[in-house]
Amino acid sequence: MPAISIQPDDRVFVLTGAGISAESGLPTFRASDGLWAGHRVEEICTSEALEENPSLVWEFYSKRRADCARAKPNAAHKALAELEAQIGDRFFLCTQNVDDLHERAGSERLVHMHGELAKSRCSQDCGAAPIEDRSVYASLSEVGHCVCGARLRPHIVFFGEMPLEMRRIQQEMSRSTQMFVIGTSGSVYPAANFVHWARQAGAKTIYIGPERPLNAEAFDTIVEGNAGEVLPGLFAVEST
Ligand code: APR
Ligand code: ZN
Repeated sequence: MPAISIQPDDRVFVLTGAGISAESGLPTFRASDGLWAGHRVEEICTSEALEENPSLVWEFYSKRRADCARAKPNAAHKALAELEAQIGDRFFLCTQNVDDLHERAGSERLVHMHGELAKSRCSQDCGAAPIEDRSVYASLSEVGHCVCGARLRPHIVFFGEMPLEMRRIQQEMSRSTQMFVIGTSGSVYPAANFVHWARQAGAKTIYIGPERPLNAEAFDTIVEGNAGEVLPGLFAVEST
């Protein structure tokens, strides 16, 4: 793959999904059977599940916190942090991932549209801000409570809930000239629509991953390969 030139007037919007963390050892959602403890992920990550079976929901996210703490950023996370270091404010990263591997690789201009594993918040939405919480709970009785008394829930956007930071995302997307989408199956909305919105705004759109995503036809270019192998050396930043 020849390098992709980033010109001085380009603005880069990056959307990442579970695939970018696969080479760090974190499983994707829709790989192989996609089951966890006999449940479909779609059955665990819902507000109904949180109400009916909070132990199961917390067990799932505690396990993911522990996995995330052991994982390390890979070459793909680092390549994006390096691109940001070169182009600064002309870079924006939107991740669907709840892990913190982008931050740990050095990314700064990023939003987590589906929430963050490292935070918890009020399960009753009393208005209190999310708090830092990397605890791995062995049982529900260990889970802390909000100032209002309600039990904490993971700061995760469940199926059926509104993604976070959509205004900022739309704004960044509308002024981008190049969009890179990395390691996402194109099956969860609204993220799967971003490629259409960026195209409408006039951006060139590129997908990077080992298989074609569901929304493959919307991209100008598809680079088939693992993110950690494709991204290093992919961007050629032009200074004049
Ligand atoms: N490099 C790049 N992409 C990869 C790699 C890799 N090494 N390995 C796998 N992939 C790709 C797969 O081909 C697949 O297209 O990553 C994608 C993972 O897809 P999903 O498991 O569906 O994950 P994602 O698209 O991030 O899911 C979106 O669904 O469950 C919700 O909220 C959750 O944010 C998540 C959302
Ligand atoms: Zn509260």
